[in-house]
Amino acid sequence: MPDNFDPTLTPDLEAKPGREDCPTKLEKTYQIARRALLSRGLWILWLVREENGELIFDGWAIPPQDLPMRLRFFVNGIECTVVGHPVDPAVDTVVKRYGLSGNSSRYAFRCAVPMEQIGDTQNLRVEFRPGSGRELSPYQDWYLRLKPGPQPDTGRRLRVAGTADPDMFERLGVSDCLAMRRALLEYFGRDYADYESIMDWGCGCARVARFVAEFAPRKLTGIDIDPDNIEWCKKNITQAEFDRIGLDPPTRFNDGSFDLVYGLSVFSHLSEADQDRWLMEIQRITKPGGAVLMSIQGEIAFLRADGDFERFLLLEKKGLHVYGRSPDLDDVLPEMKNSGYYKNIFHSRRYVYERWNRYFEIVDVIDAAFAGYQDLVVMRRR
Ligand SMILES: C[S@@+](CC[C@H](N)C(=O)[O-])C[C@H]1O[C@@H](n2cnc3c(N)ncnc32)[C@H](O)[C@@H]1O
Repeated sequence: MPDNFDPTLTPDLEAKPGREDCPTKLEKTYQIARRALLSRGLWILWLVREENGELIFDGWAIPPQDLPMRLRFFVNGIECTVVGHPVDPAVDTVVKRYGLSGNSSRYAFRCAVPMEQIGDTQNLRVEFRPGSGRELSPYQDWYLRLKPGPQPDTGRRLRVAGTADPDMFERLGVSDCLAMRRALLEYFGRDYADYESIMDWGCGCARVARFVAEFAPRKLTGIDIDPDNIEWCKKNITQAEFDRIGLDPPTRFNDGSFDLVYGLSVFSHLSEADQDRWLMEIQRITKPGGAVLMSIQGEIAFLRADGDFERFLLLEKKGLHVYGRSPDLDDVLPEMKNSGYYKNIFHSRRYVYERWNRYFEIVDVIDAAFAGYQDLVVMRRR
């Protein structure tokens, strides 16, 4: 996840100062590739608040291919007023890592819209539609709940999503749930409730499962290797079942037990050997024809987390790039400290098409569908 990422884990190659001034042919190609990766644009909603009868939100947004278009935002279809461009050092980092052409004030925004105009809906839809105002990349829409439900404590939120902010945690959960729902409807013509049995593999503290269970009560099973989070889910999420599993497959489930399996930010932590074992297990427990949705840290995430030219080429060359060990589970699974099981992993899109195709039909890979960061891999069990 974006905020959780520690690029200091593998500081083996440092950016060379002044290189942008006289790029080599390879670096020029990289600059073009970097812009192409932004073909649909990219954006993030950092902060949302209600103030004096208005909904105010801050974030940053890159128009498609970094073209100098007017930034425009809509809440439930109502256009918002861009009231400012707040200075935020985080945006400088984004500008640098994506090699953007403008300075950070071009990308940072603050928007406002009167509450009375947007009405009282459960999930507010926030869209980025630069330039002409036409819909661009609906998988990047953000969804907001103005009255967040019960939440896990800060430690648990940090462990699974890298954010201590309860509103952001809620926003990420509901947006990710609705991005997957959009994919199910678009690629399989089915909603959550149309599935008989759904698996959330690596559910954590039900950041997303709580919302999926609202759509499909009593159809969801969440599993995770983290015993502490599974106990929390059992106590707090009553519309689904939860089960602790071991680090290695198999699970206790019969062949073809689920017609929908999803896993967010789990393959972004596993070595290639563990990845292959789990792909095989997920294939086994998915019904033939069933849908499988997985997230990866792909090229867009890599640029946002790092942005270094040589490491980017390494990712493209290797396909699966181990970016160091993740300490996130050390406190709940002490055996993690010495095992090296839990890592930070990036995947190139080409690698996913080539290697994961051994296990599933790859239907599509959708850019930055999760928080403008991880890509969504849409698959079908043959
Ligand atoms: C970054 S967290 C994401 C949690 C949750 N999917 C979400 O998006 O909020 C990764 C989760 O995967 C779990 N995990 C790691 N390896 C796993 C495995 N082999 N099987 C199931 N869960 C695993 C971790 O314990 C952790 O809860």
